Amino acid sequence: MINTSDKKSENLNNILFPHEILKNYDQSKYSFPQILQDLFGLNKLDQLHEKIYSEEIFNRDLGKDSASKFHNIFYSEIKKKDSKLRTTWESFLTNEVKNHFSYVDSLIVQKLPSIRIHIPNGLAIKRWHCDSDEDHKHPLGELNCILALTDMHDTNSLWRESKPNEADFKPFNLKTGELVYWNGNTCIHGNKINTTAKTRMSLDFRVFPREQYEKHISSTTGIEYSTATMGTRFIIGEYYKEVF
Ligand SMILES: [Fe+2]
Repeated sequence: MINTSDKKSENLNNILFPHEILKNYDQSKYSFPQILQDLFGLNKLDQLHEKIYSEEIFNRDLGKDSASKFHNIFYSEIKKKDSKLRTTWESFLTNEVKNHFSYVDSLIVQKLPSIRIHIPNGLAIKRWHCDSDEDHKHPLGELNCILALTDMHDTNSLWRESKPNEADFKPFNLKTGELVYWNGNTCIHGNKINTTAKTRMSLDFRVFPREQYEKHISSTTGIEYSTATMGTRFIIGEYYKEVF
């Protein structure tokens, strides 16, 4: 994993066939953990499991794996255009994410992030998959980003192979305030049962360099496919927005 602030070295090829790129975000400016603590009524995000009465709701299959009370609170809040969560997200995209790709004029980005909540003894995502597979149908050329809202490591983290078909699965070991760009588009990834005593929480979203997006949109399936959870099409105005 490369930790670099040398933006010039990150040319487009690196992004399309990336090393994993580690970045930090300023938690005082983009206080996602604090906002979510307030929203969920918690002292610490990694203690969320203490407020849960049934683990079952966290272990559902594709399309139903984001249905807990906490997921609902998150998605309803981030959809409100003037909520602190939403305005922080918008400014994070413009001032941080876009700057990570400063050599492109505009970046296509997943409009709203997904939240992953991985409680002890639970799974955040049940199926091992890559995002471009038959079940998920994400377009080729997307780059994934995972942003740690709690420390994440070992079995409470996301495991991924280093290259497609490599099968050398390892967990992301990240601290709160770190994010990683990585290839979840064609690398298999998934969860293990969380045997730690802490809940992991993270945001994930995808970025799409415009050139790759244009290829996707002009393909025969470009505007047909949609997300497994919400049925949102992979086009600007639905799943994506453009950030300048
Ligand atoms: Fe995925």
